[in-house]
Amino acid sequence: MPGWLRDTVFYEVYPSSFRDSNGDGIGDINGIIEKLDYIKSLGCGALWINPVFDSPFRDGGYDVRDYKKVAERFGTNEDLVNLFNEAHSRGMKILLDLVPGHTSDEHPWFKASCRQEKNEYSGRYVWTSHAFEGIPGHPYISGTTDREGAYMLNFFAFQPALNYGWLNRTEKWMSAPDSEEAVSTREALKDIMRFWLDQGCDGFRVDMADSLVKNDDDRKSATAAVWREIREMMDRDYPEAALVSEWSNPVQALNGAGFHMDFYLDHLHNGYNTLLRDYEAGGEDNSFFRKKGKGDITRFLDDYMPKYRASRGQGYISMFTCNHDTYRPARTLSEKELKLAYAFILTMPGVPFIYYGDEIGMKYRDLPTKEGGYHRTGTRTPMQWDHSEHMGFSDNPEAEPYLPLPDEENAVTVEDQLNQPHSLLNTVKELIVLRHRYKYLQADALFEPVNPGKEKMPFVYRRGSLILAVNPSGKRQRVENSVFEDRTIIYKIGKAAIDGSDLIIDAQSFMICK
Ligand code: GLC
Ligand code: CA
Repeated sequence: MPGWLRDTVFYEVYPSSFRDSNGDGIGDINGIIEKLDYIKSLGCGALWINPVFDSPFRDGGYDVRDYKKVAERFGTNEDLVNLFNEAHSRGMKILLDLVPGHTSDEHPWFKASCRQEKNEYSGRYVWTSHAFEGIPGHPYISGTTDREGAYMLNFFAFQPALNYGWLNRTEKWMSAPDSEEAVSTREALKDIMRFWLDQGCDGFRVDMADSLVKNDDDRKSATAAVWREIREMMDRDYPEAALVSEWSNPVQALNGAGFHMDFYLDHLHNGYNTLLRDYEAGGEDNSFFRKKGKGDITRFLDDYMPKYRASRGQGYISMFTCNHDTYRPARTLSEKELKLAYAFILTMPGVPFIYYGDEIGMKYRDLPTKEGGYHRTGTRTPMQWDHSEHMGFSDNPEAEPYLPLPDEENAVTVEDQLNQPHSLLNTVKELIVLRHRYKYLQADALFEPVNPGKEKMPFVYRRGSLILAVNPSGKRQRVENSVFEDRTIIYKIGKAAIDGSDLIIDAQSFMICK
């Protein structure tokens, strides 16, 4: 386990929207380099960057055409290596985004695979043996290629599934996970990883990590076996490099597949969702951190605790403020609500991720789809640095920014919030400073709910020897518990005081005591 994960807060960058260094209106790698000091000043020690590889960008770069070449719009391979070096010189790490389950239909492997004559890539993707024969239970396309067969899709129509084999095989054309073609896909994946790791990359966020072997069992044991083999390679050759999975099943991803971290994704009504985004279109928002939410932390704990207990010591659950697929939390949460939500996320075990712009409460915007973003497009708008041209995203007044910037005069910016002592941005910084200062707030220290219960406010929890409390409700609360005796408050948002064994905590407040 790479030791640096114990005390790291990550920052996710959507590269098209972070900072345009050459004035063409699209964010780029040199733009990220320009802003490394800013990211470091937040207290974040590592970045996850969404795909920067050559791609037709029909799914934001998750449709890779060349895994080993940086997309021209972002710069060159040299620029990327330079980013690794610039990060390392500041003590920071860079994770790239690895898409192992599918490529773009423009990838040369796929083009070769579409040919009827047998060739090196005929078995690289999942194909049936007849044009009229589909893939039971899975999306597929047929009738568009010279090759006699249908190919399987892993996501959108232009993202054919790579062939890692099938665990339960019902058709002749289904490869076994240890067949020559499945093994060669696996080797190709390792080769891509080595290519970037050898040049200084510090690991990968792995896209749809659970999607490799098809018709896998309930434990995903065959897919896990592929990752276990990769973990062995990492342990042996790149012991400081880290892997975080898009899986959202820590028992499978951490205990089974050997990932170092697994994202707790926003899925309607799962534990994480009840904290920040507990709403359906047109429905009521009952998120725990809403002042008007129903205040029921058990909806989170009932889902989280079994997963946390079962995976503790195996790897880390990663909670995020948001990601490039998810509505920004500021879509429904006010600045005060965001402060409490972030205070919680940044004091939980595991390895937290901040999505660019969430530290200033950038809004979700209703925008027409761009590059396969659909409703996700509104979460991917340019970073709002200041009130200059294009809000500091691009210095070229003629450039058309990747996505529109807001026109409201009071739109949030980094510059404004740096100057306001109690801004969301400065609160985030304070919280990360505390996390670095107290090992009990970091990845490993035990998390225990002290007073879980429906509509019990505040929610009190323990991290190691520290006691924390959060009261998202609109009412001042007084709670009696012996855990508060003889303690001193070391940090608060809003107002809180200890009186004997009572904690008195104002509406929408948070505190940590030791
Ligand atoms: C993951 C990515 C998402 C992408 C999809 C297909 O969910 O996060 O952005 O569209 O995989 O690669
Ligand atoms: Ca640019």
